[in-house]
Amino acid sequence: MLKKKVKNICCIGAGYVGGPTMAVIADNCNYLNITVVDINEERISKWNSSDFDNLPVYEPGLKEIIKRVRNRNLFFTIDLKNSIKNADMIFISVNTPTKTSGFGAGYASDLKWVEASARQVAQNAVGHTIVIEKSTLPVRTAKVIKQILISSFDEEFENKTEKSFSILSNPEFLAEGTAIEDLNNPDRVLIGGDEEDSINALKNIYEKWVPEDKIITTNLWSSELSKLAANAFLAQRISSINSISAICEATGAEVNEVSNAIGFDSRIGFKFLSAGPGFGGSCFKKDILNLVYLCRYFGLNEVAEYWEQVVKFNEWHTKRISKLIVEKLFDTVALKKILILGFSYKANTNDTRESPAIKIVKDLLENGAEIIISDPQVDPDIIALDLGIEENVFKNGSGQGKWRYHKDIYEAAMGVDAVVIITEWKVYKSLSWHKLVKVMRKPAWLFDTRSITNYEELKDLDINYWSIGNSNYC
Ligand code: UDX
Ligand code: ADP
Repeated sequence: MLKKKVKNICCIGAGYVGGPTMAVIADNCNYLNITVVDINEERISKWNSSDFDNLPVYEPGLKEIIKRVRNRNLFFTIDLKNSIKNADMIFISVNTPTKTSGFGAGYASDLKWVEASARQVAQNAVGHTIVIEKSTLPVRTAKVIKQILISSFDEEFENKTEKSFSILSNPEFLAEGTAIEDLNNPDRVLIGGDEEDSINALKNIYEKWVPEDKIITTNLWSSELSKLAANAFLAQRISSINSISAICEATGAEVNEVSNAIGFDSRIGFKFLSAGPGFGGSCFKKDILNLVYLCRYFGLNEVAEYWEQVVKFNEWHTKRISKLIVEKLFDTVALKKILILGFSYKANTNDTRESPAIKIVKDLLENGAEIIISDPQVDPDIIALDLGIEENVFKNGSGQGKWRYHKDIYEAAMGVDAVVIITEWKVYKSLSWHKLVKVMRKPAWLFDTRSITNYEELKDLDINYWSIGNSNYC
């Protein structure tokens, strides 16, 4: 029941998905007016800040787009009511973390923010509105949203204007760090729904820059499940190569050589075969656990166990690295200084959600180490929140170590016993090890969980070297 061409878009949620996605749509479709709303005032004022280096999301290429489109046809506001009221199309792009309590805790997604958004839409929308699920959601969430929207017809909302809704699922496949490139040149755009007019309205927008054959349409449930399945497959691939890294270390094989050799098989391919400290990010673990929950709900216990093992293995793998660091440092890190390079879960993002750095640093702190953390984009206050420990503070009577932040790597390395590379930031690939080794305490260690340092540069230096999936230098 589309009455008019889509002109005004509202996106609820100005986070890692909502912000960059709307920026790219605004950049490619200057005839659209896009308003991104959030309940978090601080986040919105950062999006509106004149300091483009301090946007709430760090993504290569993002600030250049924001400079072009902000206040031209992209607006950031906390005025939810009017943004919804004026919108022909609304994207729901709010957070859906794993529930921490109640039924389904530890597995199911917490949908309270999605439900709250749907209620706000129900209350404030005017005329016909296309509502789009952008957040990754459990299969059949569209049904919940639909029910909330439909129930608005029966309730006594202050705005009694005639209204109608259609629901689409349009999952986002962008990866952080390459979000702008992924949004501008997506492998595919997926639109799930059952009303042709609404599907076409969304398709028309993407067609402004995405080739038509890359825009796939499915029913709502296939679209929702495809997002979970894609992330489960990707995470499984990382767990697979990480499992091989452990065998490499035990046998004398070299994981990069194995990745390369198997990647030549066109059925396998080269992407997503880099062994690392374990996958992080807000999606992989959450989406697999969602899948596991769904399987159990439908009595598919063997399927649930199959996927759950990918997450369990990932946790074991990260722990394996923490243990190995302690073992190599003569079985004790108490009072030893360890420099952590990289706190974000991958390079080119300031996001730390589910970062393996959090787990590894916590393990080392529990063992009494003094940790120095350096990261080009992550702020120390975020690190404190993630670790649950203030900077420079010993937890009372816990026997735990302490941590501090130091951006300059060469200064931070003064007197440290070990350097641990956790994130594959480009700058870590060209460090002067000659300079670093000089200032480290001996015997010095480098633990490279991303296998990004060059052995040739290290072999004549006074440093012990461990690199993931590689037995030669242990
Ligand atoms: C992922 C999906 O790729 C994306 O399509 C979806 O929309 C959201 O979830 P993201 O989590 O941002 O994106 O990053 P991704 O590049 O997939 O990396 C996830 C984790 O896997 C990171 O911790 C990364 O370091 C790790 N990883 C990735 C590896 O350890 N090895 C690899 O080869 C690739
Ligand atoms: P994602 O990675 O999925 O984008 P984020 O946590 O980065 O997740 O962003 C989600 C955003 O959604 C947050 O900024 C949060 O404040 C916002 N949000 C959550 N609930 C609502 C709501 N009901 N109305 C508006 N914004 C919301």
